[in-house]
Amino acid sequence: MADVVLKAQNIKKSFVMGEVITDVLKGVDFSVNEGEFVAIVGESGSGKSTLLYILAGIDTPTEGTVELLGKNIANTTDEELAAMRRREFSFVYQFDNLVPNLTVYENVTLPLVLDKRKESEYKAQVQEVLEYLGLADRLKSLPRQLSGGEQQRTAIARALVTNPKVIFLDEPTGSLDKERGRQVMELLADINKNRGVALVMVTHSQAHAEYATKIVRMEDGVVAQC
Ligand SMILES: Nc1ncnc2c1ncn2[C@@H]1O[C@H](COP(=O)(O)OP(=O)(O)OP(=O)(O)O)[C@@H](O)[C@H]1O
Ligand SMILES: [Mg+2]
Repeated sequence: MADVVLKAQNIKKSFVMGEVITDVLKGVDFSVNEGEFVAIVGESGSGKSTLLYILAGIDTPTEGTVELLGKNIANTTDEELAAMRRREFSFVYQFDNLVPNLTVYENVTLPLVLDKRKESEYKAQVQEVLEYLGLADRLKSLPRQLSGGEQQRTAIARALVTNPKVIFLDEPTGSLDKERGRQVMELLADINKNRGVALVMVTHSQAHAEYATKIVRMEDGVVAQC
């Protein structure tokens, strides 16, 4: 049996605003195997981003447990989680959060620099990833000098250079036109298939969800496998 890289059990999340309590997640069970590509679909406001943030340890659940790469996130220190984020898993936000005054190369290598890795050790591999994502001639560009698709690919390159086991993506094609969205999806499917990276992707698009090996739907605060 394939190894489980992510296992979430009975995840509940309620937001309290004044006297109003909103129960967004009402007991989600969710697991991802090594090398799997899971798409999370569901209506706007159904809790997809909330779930993804909890699975990636960015937000904490009101109840329930998340085991990511063999560790119960609730029992990890901030430092341990930060180290895992630099080495074992990564996150691509819907609206890329590239650092505006850093070049493409500097943005992409940021997690490696933060991890105090030597440039001589990672340079060739970073170059390979940038070529693979069609960014080799954009190394010195600033994010604002890139197209939307190039910015999104830069964010994916940054998520990939650390050789993670899992990448979480929140609407990675949300801000792209149809053709650029398709290109990014082809790339993600290739990354999953040929590099064996498990992907957990939130998407509005049924067509893009079809690239995944498993589709789950958020409905009424729980997930149903499609
Ligand atoms: N920090 C917060 N405080 C209060 N309510 C929140 C907070 N974050 C999310 N919510 C509420 O939780 C619900 C789910 O939000 P979430 O962002 O997870 O939905 P989504 O499925 O990702 O939607 P979309 O497809 O529009 O991105 C929404 O009703 C939202 O208003
Ligand atoms: Mg969302």
